[in-house]
Amino acid sequence: MPVAELAFAPGIDAYEPSHRGEPILEVRNLAVAVDDGLAVENVDLSLEAGRTHCLVGESGCGKSLTCLALMGLLPPGARGVSGNLRMKGRSGAIPEKGPPEGLAMIYQDATASLDPLMTVGRQIVEALPADVPRRARRAEAEDLIAQVGIPHARARFESYPHELSGGMNQRIAIAIALAARPSVLLADEPTTALDVTVQARILDLMLEFQQSTGLAILFVTHDLGVVAQIAHDVSVMYCGEIVESGPVTDLFAAPRHPYSRGLVECLPRLSRQTERLESIAGIVPPLQARPTGCRFASRCTRADDLCSTQRPCLERRGNTGAVACFNPL
Ligand SMILES: Nc1ncnc2c1ncn2[C@@H]1O[C@H](COP(=O)(O)OP(=O)(O)O)[C@@H](O)[C@H]1O
Ligand code: SF4
Ligand SMILES: [Mg+2]
Repeated sequence: MPVAELAFAPGIDAYEPSHRGEPILEVRNLAVAVDDGLAVENVDLSLEAGRTHCLVGESGCGKSLTCLALMGLLPPGARGVSGNLRMKGRSGAIPEKGPPEGLAMIYQDATASLDPLMTVGRQIVEALPADVPRRARRAEAEDLIAQVGIPHARARFESYPHELSGGMNQRIAIAIALAARPSVLLADEPTTALDVTVQARILDLMLEFQQSTGLAILFVTHDLGVVAQIAHDVSVMYCGEIVESGPVTDLFAAPRHPYSRGLVECLPRLSRQTERLESIAGIVPPLQARPTGCRFASRCTRADDLCSTQRPCLERRGNTGAVACFNPL
């Protein structure tokens, strides 16, 4: 990837709506239990129509489990979910089976999420709302194939996933998610496996769709460069918890949590003349070996005695954003 000044990409202002509305989806106290303990804990999220909220963090921090839990699709090995969800004015416990109406997801491994025995066109048709008349369903699916930028939509309708490239299958997965006409889209690393040009086209496509429909997007990624291009709001996840959240401009200009700062410093920038990229020393501790105090303590240069015995809670700091740290920046 070319080294670029990514932190304040021009796209951010272009996608900024004129006012902030009521959240379309609110999650409170989400927790997901697996055999070894709570893989996700105390997660609060708020998504608004027409805005993109990025969920960032290293591998193993609980991003995918968070999305799967919201979809009511816990993977084998997950034991249960708790928390509350309010969507379009309706609130209740997070459903354990199946997604709430209006919620769709693009899965982390799109090709694996497709049915290998069914044509991609049929898979899109199956995702269309039940009230689309039978005779219109094929035409609508072909339209979606064209909209996601796949040429020869009529012929492609009959293709099976193994006949398409990874990038095309990713587009089909997006078409399937959009076919359901969701008001909230959970996109779990939808571009991670793709080369940069395909990635850029897919991001454009999602943002165009967002602008025309007011879709709220929760976009999961570990790539802060992508965050800089598309996010309005960001939540940083570490060891199953949100450690910082707020507007994207604040996160890049003045991260408050040492982990967020580490992630931001990993971004290549033209203005920084260093020989090598900064990185965060150490690894995410596995679930069985999480420390009792702050979970970031073993990697944190600001840790003190309190950090090794107490866990900080996410607290509001100033007018915008929140941070979980005893010694924030
Ligand atoms: N199916 C599963 N069964 C048991 N534990 C799981 C399962 N999926 C994830 N986990 C646990 O939850 C943690 C977070 O996983 P995941 O949500 O996939 O992280 P991320 O998407 O941030 O990389 C993992 O490190 C693992 O300990
Ligand atoms: S609470 Fe302590 S260990 Fe945790 S991030 Fe803040 S300073 Fe570092
Ligand atoms: Mg994941």
